[in-house]
Amino acid sequence: MSLRDDYFRYQIPTGPEPMGVEPAYARGSWIYDRHGKAYLDLVAGVSALPLGHRHPALIEAARRQLDRYWHTMVYGEFVQEPQVELAREMAAVLPARLSKMYPVNSGTEATEAALKTAKKFTGRPKVVAARLAYHGNTQGSLSVMGYEARKRPFAPLIPGVEFIRFNRSEDLEHIDRRTAAVILETIQGGAGFVEPENDYLQQVRKRCDETGALLILDEIQTGFARTGRMFGFEHYGVVPDILITGKALGGGFPIGAFHTSDEIARTLTEPPMSHITTFGGHPVVNAVAAETVRQLQKSDLARKALEKERYIRQTFKHPLIEEIRGRGLMLALMMPDKRRADRLVRRALERGVILFWLLYEPRAVRLTPPLTIGRRELDYAWEIIRDILDEPA
Ligand SMILES: Cc1ncc(COP(=O)(O)O)c(C=O)c1O
Repeated sequence: MSLRDDYFRYQIPTGPEPMGVEPAYARGSWIYDRHGKAYLDLVAGVSALPLGHRHPALIEAARRQLDRYWHTMVYGEFVQEPQVELAREMAAVLPARLSKMYPVNSGTEATEAALKTAKKFTGRPKVVAARLAYHGNTQGSLSVMGYEARKRPFAPLIPGVEFIRFNRSEDLEHIDRRTAAVILETIQGGAGFVEPENDYLQQVRKRCDETGALLILDEIQTGFARTGRMFGFEHYGVVPDILITGKALGGGFPIGAFHTSDEIARTLTEPPMSHITTFGGHPVVNAVAAETVRQLQKSDLARKALEKERYIRQTFKHPLIEEIRGRGLMLALMMPDKRRADRLVRRALERGVILFWLLYEPRAVRLTPPLTIGRRELDYAWEIIRDILDEPA
């Protein structure tokens, strides 16, 4: 039996046609498979590898911690250096009102924790979320997912959620004095990399302030320099009450986190252990995460993400690319239809370039490479993508 056969035999499938790449080794922007084929990675584990695969500084951080201690106690009971270091690094890159941090194991857990915290802190029952939002796949996160067809099979979910249209000011009246929190992605991901227009986020912030609702911004995908700033909200002149992060924070290791003020954070201490996790704050993961933040902080990868965006917009021009959506290195090529988007992703894979889809927008092809990707790698990718787009379909 081959590895591939056992993959189909024993692993629970997530879809009918998995990409099926068999990685043997990865480094920088490249994945090499077990048969010696090289793939240029323009997806970065779905925005989770800001420094590319196996950055030497992250290998060193993991090794150092592997040699010291691993899991010693559930999160929050012991003073563990990697957790403190990560929280300190995060406080240095976030506004003062987000300087308290709680690490968990995934993005969806961060969503769950943020929603719980907001409900408990405000004592209110209602949550406002956006249509076409994606905040993760556990039941609380599914409750605030703005895509009915994907959540219906799992009903009943958590009640008390009202949906508004992203970028529509007239819907903000749904935020009222019964609202514990408004949860939004700073830039909507699954919807097709949809940016907030004009002063939309500032209007949301104002309405939250007027009603006492907390603003939760989900930066699980937009965070950590991907959009050209350390956090997406920096583009729009707002600061949330609770920030949720994940993906890139771990530099390739599993993590999620929420960040808030001292005042809001305290709500989780009474009753004691209002939110707990065994492996949240895992020392090896947190050591790598702290190093990831440090590396991003001392590099100019955020500014370069904007330069690379400009280069992609100038270079990736073809009649079949109707639009390039997004910001920094969170970009989507908008194809005329789903068939052509699917074809591009599949053919690119055959030719050794990894592209991917977005959850709800079938015309979109994802371009979220490592932030460290080089100009020559982008040229290499474009030659192949252009070739494929030129093929008779
Ligand atoms: C905006 C956003 N929120 C939440 C999540 C869920 O994160 P995880 O898959 O780590 O649970 C994702 C993952 O794609 C995301 O993009």
